[in-house]
Amino acid sequence: MPAHIAVIMDGNGRWAKRRGLPRAMGHRAGVEALKTTLRLCSDWGISALTAYAFSTENWARPGDEVSFLMTLFERVLQRELESLEREQVHIRFLGDLEALPIRLQDLISEATERTIDNTGIHFNVCTNYGGRRELVLAAQKLAERAAKGDLDPALIDENIFAAELFTAGEADPDLLIRTSGERRISNFLLWQLAYAEIHVTDVLWPDFDESALKSALVDYQSRCRRFGGLDPVNEDQLHN
Ligand code: FPP
Repeated sequence: MPAHIAVIMDGNGRWAKRRGLPRAMGHRAGVEALKTTLRLCSDWGISALTAYAFSTENWARPGDEVSFLMTLFERVLQRELESLEREQVHIRFLGDLEALPIRLQDLISEATERTIDNTGIHFNVCTNYGGRRELVLAAQKLAERAAKGDLDPALIDENIFAAELFTAGEADPDLLIRTSGERRISNFLLWQLAYAEIHVTDVLWPDFDESALKSALVDYQSRCRRFGGLDPVNEDQLHN
């Protein structure tokens, strides 16, 4: 089983359009699919789920859709916080949070604080998140430390770099799931996905259910992860 799953929840708008509904209804249905996925991952012992809720590029959507999404995030947090707390979910929001509406920022701080000691699944919600932005911010922080004389640039290695990312302390995802058939990374976890297995499904995010998650896990289990090394089978053959 993967220890950490990342998801690009694509296809909410298309799901709504196919039903003649406004896009907002697709996002609402998407929240339900996310809740189902979180619960299943938690039940099946997966340690972390990281979801791409809003990218730095999503501000370019029409203003009414952006404000709908912000209000939706607030409502979902208000409504779900007690059950997240009860179910031992440890929630974190990853991204440039200062650009979010202040009410949402307050709810994010509250949810983070109230679940910080929870021992269950780590649920990372990428909100105003961009992979390139994350890398630039990490480079800035390291450069500031170096300029102050607190860090020798020659000592910067992968661990020191990773500790400056929003995901600091979290193991990298083993499996990336992208719904609705798109085969792109879309500026998501550029550093962290270096060795992730990628599962692309045509299922639209609101339809992503237990059987879709099981298919992703079965696909993952069929992969041979070499991390740049040799396939263990071939290695045996070489030794024999
Ligand atoms: C993309 O579909 C999906 C989003 C913009 C994510 C919306 C966010 C959620 C469902 C989860 C919110 C969760 C929490 C915990 C606050 P799309 O609009 O790009 O679909 P399309 O490609 O079909 O247009």
